Amino acid sequence: MSFYTAGVNPMASCDPAAAGSLSEEFAVPAHVEEVRSVMEAFAVQHGAAGRRVVLITSGDTKVPLESRTVRFLDNFSSGRRGASLAEYFLSQGYAVIFLHRQRSLYPYTRLYTGVNLLDCLTLDTVQEGTGLVTVDQTKLPNITEVLKRYQAVKSAGLLLPVEFSTLSEYLHLLKAAAQALSSIGSKAMFYLAAAVSDFYIPASEMPEHKIQSSNGPLQISMKMVPKILKPLVKDWAPTAFVISFKLETDPSILLERARCALDTYKHQAVVANVLDTRHGYVVVVTEDSQTELVLTDEEAQREVEIEDKIVRNLSHAHTQFINQKV
Ligand code: PMT
Repeated sequence: MSFYTAGVNPMASCDPAAAGSLSEEFAVPAHVEEVRSVMEAFAVQHGAAGRRVVLITSGDTKVPLESRTVRFLDNFSSGRRGASLAEYFLSQGYAVIFLHRQRSLYPYTRLYTGVNLLDCLTLDTVQEGTGLVTVDQTKLPNITEVLKRYQAVKSAGLLLPVEFSTLSEYLHLLKAAAQALSSIGSKAMFYLAAAVSDFYIPASEMPEHKIQSSNGPLQISMKMVPKILKPLVKDWAPTAFVISFKLETDPSILLERARCALDTYKHQAVVANVLDTRHGYVVVVTEDSQTELVLTDEEAQREVEIEDKIVRNLSHAHTQFINQKV
């Protein structure tokens, strides 16, 4: 396996692989055109109603090691960041396309992760047979309030979920989303919180069947995934407001890598975070500013979330961006 050692080598590039043709290297999912037109209708409808639309990517990408996949490579991401961002963007009046990894955390239901649903329900013995079920609200904190918010969002059609699983699906669906949102120009925001693989095995080099351990230790050579930010900003969504993330485990290289990404791709902002402290501290880096967002202990006790602060900061920056374009 080849490793890309970002930050260790001072000559390391922010753009390690140029984007080739997506369809040549990554299989096109069968439903991509259908999803593109659903996203386009969503953008047109909300754009006409004067609403901004944000596309949030969330969760991790799956990179198969075999065609009939038993084994695969995953990045780290639970999807919590993306799911909570979706809720805060909705509360700021955005319509949200939630492009997420299948079975990663989902807006609103993420608040009840770890709760066994069946432990919260009781079958009414008198009404048994009619299917009447009661909910133990002590086991689902704030469920009434959360359900109200979820149902309001659902009935107004403000949240469009789109699932991906593999890296190929992610790349093609992101491109389709960029095409779908082009009609609303600067009112579109792209918020790339997904943890996307930097490595993959081309279909032509992949074994068809399960790799056999009886053949001894495994050696894999993986190709670099093109940085999709480049065509997104330059070709697919040149008028949109684009935000990427920068995740590092070494805090000492974080800001340098974030600024390097901004200089390379020329998008509007990078949200820089370190794996261990990501729930309480991020830095929003733009061309001319660097803003630290921190959760105090008191805020953490009140269950304030850092995503609330991120969304307030960036929706304000998005307003300024739109006004400059007018
Ligand atoms: O989901 P959680 O458990 O809550 O965790 C949240 C998180 C840590 C995953 C999230 O906050 C985060 O940092 N997401 C981005 C992780 C990542 O892939 O960082 P990166 O440095 O590898 O990529 C930087 C940016 O380039 C990202 O916006 C990514 O979408 C984009 N990218 C990555 C690879 C690639 N081939 N093309 C890209 O455009």
